[in-house]
Amino acid sequence: MIKIKTEPELELMKNSGEVLRETFSVLEELIRPGVMTAELDAAAEDFIRSKGGIPAFKGYQGYPATICASVNEQVVHGIPGPRSLEEGDIVGIDMGVVLEEFYSDATRTYPIGEISEEAARLIRVTSESLDQGIEQVRPGNHLSDISHAIQKHAESHGYSIVRALVGHGIGRMMHEEPQIPNFGPPGKGPELQVGMVLAIEPMVNVGTHDVLTLEDTWTFVTVDGKLSCHFEDTVAVTENGPRIMTR
Ligand code: MF3
Ligand code: CO
Repeated sequence: MIKIKTEPELELMKNSGEVLRETFSVLEELIRPGVMTAELDAAAEDFIRSKGGIPAFKGYQGYPATICASVNEQVVHGIPGPRSLEEGDIVGIDMGVVLEEFYSDATRTYPIGEISEEAARLIRVTSESLDQGIEQVRPGNHLSDISHAIQKHAESHGYSIVRALVGHGIGRMMHEEPQIPNFGPPGKGPELQVGMVLAIEPMVNVGTHDVLTLEDTWTFVTVDGKLSCHFEDTVAVTENGPRIMTR
């Protein structure tokens, strides 16, 4: 069952999303060549707690950190540590906040200094794919209209969509129904209704869509070692269309 949120609940989710947005702003001041991903993690945790929030990922199924920091061929769930970001890298920062019992979840991918044209194009197209998906968040549309819009945009630029990982409903839990694939034909799945809240999160690869996990059991990487990119926002269905909680 897909949970429907009331207007007051959506307000709480918006507050949670606002803390998450501010956390990204804090990290954006720190992201540069030489910064360790562990430093970003510490800054994010401190800031979220200073706002009365709780890092949503820390302790989730044993995950050890506040942020996921996924570099280059890492797709998602990179564990922060002593690794320094280097000129030319791209890094996906995925974070979640719990505030007043409600979750928000978002991801941004950042360039480190000067990056290749291919990397810049990948970031642009992945971000656009998310926007195309969000555009479909309207009452009366079907869930897979989101999936289809994302896939169409990414593949029309010659990229592939990761299939092994999906977006999700979100609310009092980080992962609620429904699962939201980033590919598929339009017009399928449940009809979107006012009050549903969705974490939409395309993962787009330069090469094959196939991924595998590293020995740390968390980090997903591309099988071919080529670049991958991830963007995510928490979005509510309203009468007037999408309401993005994390922007
Ligand atoms: N955005 C990811 C998701 O929706 C974050 C969860 S990963 C974990 O699944 F680190 F929390 F486990
Ligand atoms: Co998510």
